[in-house]
Amino acid sequence: MDISQKCILRVENKLEQLLRTQNDSYKQIYEWMQYCVLNGGKRIRAQLVYASCIACDGELENADHMACALELIHAYSLVHDDLPAMDNDILRRGIPSAHIAFGEANAILIGDALQTLAFETLTARCSLTAQMQLKLINILAKASGAKGMVFGQVLDLNSENHNLDHLKNIHKHKTGALIEASVQSGALIANADKKTMSSLEQYAQKLGLAFQVQDDVLDVVSNTDKLGKTCGKDKQQNKITYVDLLGLEKAQNYVSDLIMAAKSSISNLGKSVNYLLDLADFVLHRKN
Ligand code: IPE
Ligand code: IPE
Ligand code: MG
Ligand code: MG
Ligand code: MG
Repeated sequence: MDISQKCILRVENKLEQLLRTQNDSYKQIYEWMQYCVLNGGKRIRAQLVYASCIACDGELENADHMACALELIHAYSLVHDDLPAMDNDILRRGIPSAHIAFGEANAILIGDALQTLAFETLTARCSLTAQMQLKLINILAKASGAKGMVFGQVLDLNSENHNLDHLKNIHKHKTGALIEASVQSGALIANADKKTMSSLEQYAQKLGLAFQVQDDVLDVVSNTDKLGKTCGKDKQQNKITYVDLLGLEKAQNYVSDLIMAAKSSISNLGKSVNYLLDLADFVLHRKN
């Protein structure tokens, strides 16, 4: 088993534990949350926390809670993103979206519950100091809120301004913010020095943008079966994408350039960055 498979298994197990029904009265909402989380996500954000922690010689055990919290926030963002009032998508990770399976009002509540569970997870007793836990809560709150992912979603849903700078700003927030928080927190947990932090920040910015440009590309070149979500959705919803603004080939080249730049940002950090380098390649070659 390689390190990526090990870390995916690790976060899957932890997420399963967090989503186990503790008390029969809460069974229904917990089952709905399980449906939206334990359903085959690629776990890129969790893996980035682990990979960044490894790059800074940290202990994986210290990264578990943040890895789970990021996947919970991400899962909530997907449940809400698919709602009829947002992207109106009926398929997610190859199964009916939450609002199709459980109704719209319940999907809103599932998203709310996943979001609060993320923060509850970060407050649980663990091997980290209370001061570190506070820092992680702060990073996650900022990255997911009105200056981070939510801001990106607001721009995404309310944009008539079709230019590259504007689109870059949407992508930087709606997808980049959580990816940057993943890399930053992994390094912080491992007590990385300032210089390392700054190289990793460069890596994360490039990777975050590449991730969303590739998402735009896949929406055009893939198919619904492979993607596990409705292909061609961006055009249907009149979204601005890199493929619209640059054309398919240039958008694809832009992803490769960004991935190359992301990798070279951390080339000064030695051998322990191999997992981060592999994840960058994964983003470039991913098919869903
Ligand atoms: C999909 O994210 C939504 C975007 C931010 C582009 P992922 O492609 O990471 O989705 P999962 O978690 O693997 O399903
Ligand atoms: C989703 O962007 C970003 C967030 C969920 C925050 P998209 O709308 O492009 O994601 P998909 O294509 O539905 O997965
Ligand atoms: Mg969207
Ligand atoms: Mg969407
Ligand atoms: Mg998309």
